[in-house]
Amino acid sequence: MDAPYRIRSAVPADAAGLVAIERRAFSDPWSEASFHEALVSPWTFGLVAEAGRGMAGYLIAREVAGTGEVLNLAVAPDLRRRGVGGALLEAGLSALRRRKVDEVFLEVRESNISAQALYVGHGFRPVGQRAAYYRNPKEDAVVLRLELQQRA
Ligand SMILES: CC(C)(COP(=O)(O)OP(=O)(O)OC[C@H]1O[C@@H](n2cnc3c(N)ncnc32)[C@H](O)[C@@H]1OP(=O)(O)O)[C@@H](O)C(=O)NCCC(=O)NCCS
Repeated sequence: MDAPYRIRSAVPADAAGLVAIERRAFSDPWSEASFHEALVSPWTFGLVAEAGRGMAGYLIAREVAGTGEVLNLAVAPDLRRRGVGGALLEAGLSALRRRKVDEVFLEVRESNISAQALYVGHGFRPVGQRAAYYRNPKEDAVVLRLELQQRA
């Protein structure tokens, strides 16, 4: 992207900034309380991409017993298609690898072709469908899976 950005761990105090991007990215956004809860839980972690003038995007992921899940990923609308989403995903996968995760799942709206392209480009493959998983509007989820190779 044009401006430099860096990726850092998210902290509970980031919740208000994250929800501001979230509301511009999704028709059924997480609440600030949901972000806060995710950032205090020992099972979940967040990463923030910071551009010069503030937050450019974030990723929230979870790890339980060797299985990882990408719970949320968004980039501010004016900063998309500059590699921020891909960089956040790669950083999240590295963090899950460090936690000894060997497979990662995520759900994505069936109509969300851009996010699906991003995930498939990073090795995720469709493994199932969840009927009426999303609301506002109601829509099926495609379930994607990535086998995570542990690097020596
Ligand atoms: C999905 C999202 C996070 C991608 O972020 P981003 O910073 O634009 O992603 P990148 O610039 O790293 O894009 C990487 C690749 O993803 C794919 N991609 C991203 N946006 C795309 C689009 N609008 N159309 C087609 N492919 C797209 C492309 O393959 C792209 O590579 P390319 O630019 O070399 O063609 C962003 O569009 C977003 O926040 N969307 C709204 C929230 C959302 O849908 N989150 C995912 C929920 S599961």
